[in-house]
Amino acid sequence: MVQKKGTKQNIGVIQLNRPKALNALCDGLMNEMKVALDLFENDPQVGAIVITGNEKAFAAGADIKEMQNSTFQECYRSNFLAGWNSVSTVRKPVIAAVNGYALGGGCELAMMCDIIYAGEKAQFGQPEILLGTIPGAGGTQRLTRAVGKSLAMEMVLTGDRISAQEAKEAGMGTSVCLLIGPFSGGPIWEEMEAESFLQ
Ligand code: COA
Repeated sequence: MVQKKGTKQNIGVIQLNRPKALNALCDGLMNEMKVALDLFENDPQVGAIVITGNEKAFAAGADIKEMQNSTFQECYRSNFLAGWNSVSTVRKPVIAAVNGYALGGGCELAMMCDIIYAGEKAQFGQPEILLGTIPGAGGTQRLTRAVGKSLAMEMVLTGDRISAQEAKEAGMGTSVCLLIGPFSGGPIWEEMEAESFLQ
């Protein structure tokens, strides 16, 4: 869901909206996100972009059902996930407003943004190993820079999740700007709006 918000209509908000699939990042969703990002990037009225989910999930990862039958050769040949990188090349500030699960591709998507505002129920993790694969879309690199090699290795090799507080304590804020706002476990964008976080 895409809309402009704020008193000056200068915040472009992209809300991931596949709640039944915990906002799993299927091809269709990622293609639509690219269209929305381009739209906001080229809109002179828009000063910053927010990507958000709902209170249960920012995004629970790449869509497992879509990728489960892909072979290594198919992924390599099609440059699987390469298009996701457009999130990190947007020239306007992009903010991830995260509550609930930010797992796998969801964690990678959040780390592609310039700032993460996290609610108290946010959980970050790279559980790909539990599916017998590894983090893609820059996950191994950005997570290492964000929380350091040891914790990144632990998360990637066990699939264990960390809370926003743990991520902040591990130094995630020095790589991606991770701010734990005065947010509860509710829909974080609504709380940001109510608190006039961005105007
Ligand atoms: N891709 C596709 N569908 C997903 C998904 C994903 N990454 N994550 C969750 N879903 C779907 C589930 O299949 C389920 O749909 P269904 O009811 O049609 O089967 C729905 O979302 C709800 O998930 P469910 O597992 O029932 O919710 P839960 O609250 O018990 O558990 C999680 C939540 C996030 C712990 C669990 O869904 C999970 O581990 N997801 C996979 C995370 C992952 O491995 N991400 C990396 C992918 S590379």
